[in-house]
Amino acid sequence: MRVLVAGASGAIGRAVVAELVRGGHDVVGLARGQAGADVVTSLGAQPVVADVLDRDGLLRALDGTTADAVVHEATALKKAPTHYRGSGITATNRLRTTGTAHLLEAARLVGATRFVVQSMVFGYGFVDHGPDLVTEDRPFGRARGAKSDAATAAFASAEAQALAAGGIALRYGFVYGQGPASDRIVSLLRRRAFPVPRGGGGSLGWLFVDDAATATRAAVERGRAGQAYNVVDDEPARWGEVFDAMADAAGAHRPPRVPGGLMRLIAPFLADQMIGTSMRVSNAKAGDELGWRPSVPTFRHGMEAGRRAWRTPGSLSSPGPAGSRRTPRS
Ligand SMILES: NC(=O)c1ccc[n+]([C@@H]2O[C@H](COP(=O)([O-])OP(=O)(O)OC[C@H]3O[C@@H](n4cnc5c(N)ncnc54)[C@H](OP(=O)(O)O)[C@@H]3O)[C@@H](O)[C@H]2O)c1
Repeated sequence: MRVLVAGASGAIGRAVVAELVRGGHDVVGLARGQAGADVVTSLGAQPVVADVLDRDGLLRALDGTTADAVVHEATALKKAPTHYRGSGITATNRLRTTGTAHLLEAARLVGATRFVVQSMVFGYGFVDHGPDLVTEDRPFGRARGAKSDAATAAFASAEAQALAAGGIALRYGFVYGQGPASDRIVSLLRRRAFPVPRGGGGSLGWLFVDDAATATRAAVERGRAGQAYNVVDDEPARWGEVFDAMADAAGAHRPPRVPGGLMRLIAPFLADQMIGTSMRVSNAKAGDELGWRPSVPTFRHGMEAGRRAWRTPGSLSSPGPAGSRRTPRS
C-alpha cells in the first residue's frame, strides 16, 4: 500500500513510518522543512514538504501524489510546555480540528480510501471513570474544566470528522519510549522538574511508542471503516508508579511529590490529567479486530526497553525505533 503520513518526523510519526516501511509499504512522509524531510528520508520514505494548516499549500504540494491511505500523526507538542499549562495544547488542538479537515481533503486529492487519525484516551474526558473497563462504547468527547475542555473537544472533532468520512480513530494511551517520545520528560526527571501528585495520581492507559506504531500499521491494513480503537498496554497504572520507574530507568532521582491543591493552582492542565483523570482502558477491540497485541505489555517492561537508550549519552534524540526495539519477556 502507498501511505501518506502527516507528522512523519514526530515522536510517534517516525515510529509509524519505520513500521510501515518494515511492513513493505511505500511511504510518503509530510514534513514542514528540510530537517523533517531528512528524518523522513532516513527512515526510507519519500518526503513532501507542506504545512497541514495551510490548506492551499498542502493541496498544491500533494498535487500529482497518489496514496491508498493517509495517517494523521501531526501534533505541536515540541515547543509547548503542555505538561504544565493548558494553553500549550492550543496549536495541537488546531492540528486536530482544522488539520484533520485539511488532511481529509488531501486524502480525497491523492485518491486514498483509508484514513487513520491519532486520538487519545484523554478524549473520554478528564474525569474519574471508575473501576469498570472503558471500552469504545463509552461516550467520547465529554468535557470538563475550562482548560481541558478545548483538548477534549479537539479529540472529538478529529474523530467525528474522520469517522464520518469512513476513517479510523486510534485512541492511544500515554505514549512513551526511546528517542523523542520521552526525551523531554526524561530530561525533566533528571532535573527533578517533573512533579507527581502526592498519592501517585490517577490510573491511565500507557503505550510504548513501538506499539503505537504496530497498532497504526494494523489499522491501516485491517481497520474497519468508521471505527475507533483503544490502543493501550495491558495494565492500567498510576502516574507515580510509571514515572518512578522511568526515573529509575533513566538514572534519575524519584520525582518530587506535590500536594494536589498546589498542582491544580500552578499546573491546571497537568492536574486535570494526573489527578482529575482515572481510567482502566480496555484494548480488547484492537485485539479482536486488528489482531494487535502490545509487545510491551506493562510499563515495567517498557522501562526496561527504554533503560539502555535513556542511559546512553546522546541517545535521547535518536531518530527512531529502529535498532532499539526489544521484545520484553513477560
Ligand atoms: N506527538 C506525540 O503524541 C507525543 C507522544 C509522546 C511524547 N510526546 C512529547 O512531545 C514532545 C514533542 O513530540 P514530537 O516530537 O512528536 O513533536 P511535535 O512538535 O508534536 O511534532 C509532531 C509532528 O507533527 C508535525 N507537525 C507539527 N505541526 C505541523 C504542521 N502545521 N504541519 C505539518 N506537520 C506538522 C511535526 O513536524 P516538524 O518536524 O516539522 O515539527 C512532527 O512531524 C516529545 O519530545 C515528547 O516529550 C509527544
